[in-house]
Amino acid sequence: MTTMEKITIKDFQKMKDEGIKITMISAYTYPLARIIDEIGIDSILIGDSLGMTVLGYENTLEVTIEDSIRHSQAVARGTKRAHIIGDMPFLTYGVNVEETVRNAGRLVKEGKCESVKLEGGEERTEEIEGIKSIGIPVLGHIGLTPTYVNEFGGFKVQGKESKDEERLIKHAKMLEEAGIYALIIESVPWKLAKKITEELSIPTIGIGAGEYCDGQVLVIDDLIGLTFDLKPKFVKKYADVNSIIKNAVIEFAEEVKSGKFPSQEHRYD
Ligand code: KIV
Repeated sequence: MTTMEKITIKDFQKMKDEGIKITMISAYTYPLARIIDEIGIDSILIGDSLGMTVLGYENTLEVTIEDSIRHSQAVARGTKRAHIIGDMPFLTYGVNVEETVRNAGRLVKEGKCESVKLEGGEERTEEIEGIKSIGIPVLGHIGLTPTYVNEFGGFKVQGKESKDEERLIKHAKMLEEAGIYALIIESVPWKLAKKITEELSIPTIGIGAGEYCDGQVLVIDDLIGLTFDLKPKFVKKYADVNSIIKNAVIEFAEEVKSGKFPSQEHRYD
């Protein structure tokens, strides 16, 4: 599906029903949003991973609603076709339904997002219903949900034990019942993700969850090689932008030191 028409949550469901894979990329800036949108990716998530990729935090917990709004606005300015999803940062939900609805509303009203994502299972159902009651579609997220990093004792694959497997399936079904339009499944064994995908009627989007999900999401910095040390097994690096930037900056510095840059073509008469 690469028409110029705006992608909506209805298209996500249509794609699942027709067996067409959904593409999603987590990105946070105007130029990358433009590039991603222009090549026809279906959706851009302004993930709270921005805390780690762009802001240099150790995890996603310090990201604020203002950070998310600011980056969502930048992405929205660069996006015409892709569906824009705002990620609700830690503590912008989970306190009470009212606060959750207000923060989701800010991502749409101020951040120009078209739907919002939040992490968690059964414990989120009331909040999801609240957000939906004011007309905002919600994307769910289970498995290795990064804001639960302290609860999980690190960034670890989830759902390996059979009791956890049952728990995740139960949560996925409850989220679907609460009205999410799609579900991100992060870092779980592929057989479990396949089972969840088969049991839900809404689309699943995998990250580290194998090939049977209805779509896939990756963080742009991981995909283009703009990260430093952390490289989860599920990441495929399609480019090495880190080296490209390094080499360009080295060349610039050498040319300035040697007097080669600026040359006559780069000066004004
Ligand atoms: O924050 C993020 O970018 C995410 C995706 C990786 C799913 O949650």
